[in-house]
Amino acid sequence: TYVVTDACIRCKYMDCVEVCPVDCFYEGDNMLVINPSECIDCGVCEPECPAEAILPDTEGGLEKWMELNTTFSAQWPNITRKREAPADADEWKGVSGKYEAHFS
Ligand code: SF4
Ligand code: F3S
Repeated sequence: TYVVTDACIRCKYMDCVEVCPVDCFYEGDNMLVINPSECIDCGVCEPECPAEAILPDTEGGLEKWMELNTTFSAQWPNITRKREAPADADEWKGVSGKYEAHFS
Protein backbone atom coordinates (compact mmCIF):
# COMPACT_ATOMS: atom_id res chain seq x y z
CA THR A 1 0.00 0.00 0.00
CA TYR A 2 0.90 3.65 -0.27
CA VAL A 3 0.66 6.03 2.68
CA VAL A 4 0.40 9.79 3.08
CA THR A 5 3.17 11.24 5.25
CA ASP A 6 4.22 14.40 7.08
CA ALA A 7 4.75 16.47 3.93
CA CYS A 8 0.99 16.60 3.28
CA ILE A 9 0.22 18.39 6.53
CA ARG A 10 -1.02 21.95 5.82
CA CYS A 11 -0.14 21.53 2.13
CA LYS A 12 -3.10 19.38 1.18
CA TYR A 13 -2.85 20.00 -2.56
CA MET A 14 -5.39 17.26 -3.31
CA ASP A 15 -3.98 16.40 -6.75
CA CYS A 16 -3.81 12.84 -5.46
CA VAL A 17 -7.56 12.35 -5.20
CA GLU A 18 -8.12 13.09 -8.87
CA VAL A 19 -6.03 10.15 -10.05
CA CYS A 20 -6.84 7.39 -7.57
CA PRO A 21 -8.77 4.68 -9.44
CA VAL A 22 -10.36 3.33 -6.25
CA ASP A 23 -11.10 6.63 -4.46
CA CYS A 24 -9.36 5.61 -1.26
CA PHE A 25 -8.35 9.04 0.06
CA TYR A 26 -9.91 10.44 3.26
CA GLU A 27 -9.88 14.04 4.39
CA GLY A 28 -8.89 15.58 7.70
CA ASP A 29 -8.59 19.29 8.49
CA ASN A 30 -4.87 19.46 7.74
CA MET A 31 -4.07 16.44 5.61
CA LEU A 32 -5.41 13.50 3.66
CA VAL A 33 -4.79 9.82 4.35
CA ILE A 34 -5.08 6.63 2.31
CA ASN A 35 -7.12 3.65 3.44
CA PRO A 36 -4.48 0.92 3.20
CA SER A 37 -7.04 -1.84 2.82
CA GLU A 38 -8.59 -0.13 -0.20
CA CYS A 39 -5.37 1.00 -1.92
CA ILE A 40 -4.53 -1.31 -4.84
CA ASP A 41 -0.88 -0.24 -4.93
CA CYS A 42 -1.11 1.21 -8.43
CA GLY A 43 1.34 4.00 -7.59
CA VAL A 44 -0.21 6.67 -9.81
CA CYS A 45 -0.76 9.12 -6.95
CA GLU A 46 2.88 9.20 -5.86
CA PRO A 47 4.25 11.41 -8.67
CA GLU A 48 1.14 13.62 -8.65
CA CYS A 49 1.76 15.05 -5.18
CA PRO A 50 3.59 18.42 -5.38
CA ALA A 51 4.77 17.95 -1.78
CA GLU A 52 6.07 14.41 -2.37
CA ALA A 53 4.01 13.29 0.60
CA ILE A 54 2.92 9.90 -0.75
CA LEU A 55 5.25 6.95 -0.30
CA PRO A 56 5.04 3.17 -0.71
CA ASP A 57 5.13 1.42 2.66
CA THR A 58 7.94 -0.74 1.28
CA GLU A 59 10.22 2.28 1.92
CA GLY A 60 10.55 1.20 5.52
CA GLY A 61 10.38 3.33 8.64
CA LEU A 62 6.84 4.37 7.85
CA GLU A 63 5.10 2.41 10.63
CA LYS A 64 3.86 5.57 12.33
CA TRP A 65 2.34 6.79 9.07
CA MET A 66 0.85 3.41 8.26
CA GLU A 67 -0.89 3.47 11.62
CA LEU A 68 -2.06 7.06 11.19
CA ASN A 69 -3.44 6.37 7.69
CA THR A 70 -5.23 3.26 8.96
CA THR A 71 -6.73 5.00 11.98
CA PHE A 72 -7.90 8.19 10.35
CA SER A 73 -9.15 6.67 7.09
CA ALA A 74 -11.71 4.89 9.26
CA GLN A 75 -12.84 8.18 10.83
CA TRP A 76 -12.54 10.88 8.18
CA PRO A 77 -14.85 11.39 5.16
CA ASN A 78 -13.94 10.13 1.71
CA ILE A 79 -12.67 12.74 -0.76
CA THR A 80 -12.71 12.27 -4.53
CA ARG A 81 -12.66 15.82 -5.90
CA LYS A 82 -9.79 18.27 -5.71
CA ARG A 83 -10.60 21.67 -4.27
CA GLU A 84 -8.36 24.68 -3.99
CA ALA A 85 -5.37 24.02 -1.74
CA PRO A 86 -5.02 26.11 1.46
CA ALA A 87 -3.87 29.66 0.70
CA ASP A 88 -0.64 29.14 2.64
CA ALA A 89 0.04 25.63 1.30
CA ASP A 90 3.28 26.63 -0.41
CA GLU A 91 4.63 28.12 2.81
CA TRP A 92 4.31 24.73 4.51
CA LYS A 93 5.90 22.81 1.67
CA GLY A 94 9.12 21.16 2.79
CA VAL A 95 8.74 22.29 6.41
CA SER A 96 9.78 19.53 8.82
CA GLY A 97 8.20 18.48 12.09
CA LYS A 98 4.67 19.22 11.01
CA TYR A 99 3.34 16.06 12.63
CA GLU A 100 4.68 17.06 16.03
CA ALA A 101 3.15 20.52 15.63
CA HIS A 102 -0.29 19.32 14.55
CA PHE A 103 -0.90 15.91 16.08
CA SER A 104 0.61 16.10 19.57
FE1 SF4 B 1 -5.01 5.20 -4.98
FE2 SF4 B 1 -3.18 3.94 -6.43
FE3 SF4 B 1 -2.44 5.87 -4.76
FE4 SF4 B 1 -3.30 3.55 -3.79
S1 SF4 B 1 -1.43 3.89 -4.98
S2 SF4 B 1 -3.89 5.57 -3.07
S3 SF4 B 1 -4.85 2.98 -5.30
S4 SF4 B 1 -3.72 6.11 -6.58
FE1 F3S C 1 -1.50 15.82 0.39
FE2 F3S C 1 -0.06 15.62 -1.77
FE3 F3S C 1 -2.50 14.77 -1.81
S1 F3S C 1 -0.05 17.32 -0.35
S2 F3S C 1 -3.52 16.13 -0.40
S3 F3S C 1 -0.89 13.96 -0.56
S4 F3S C 1 -1.46 15.83 -3.44
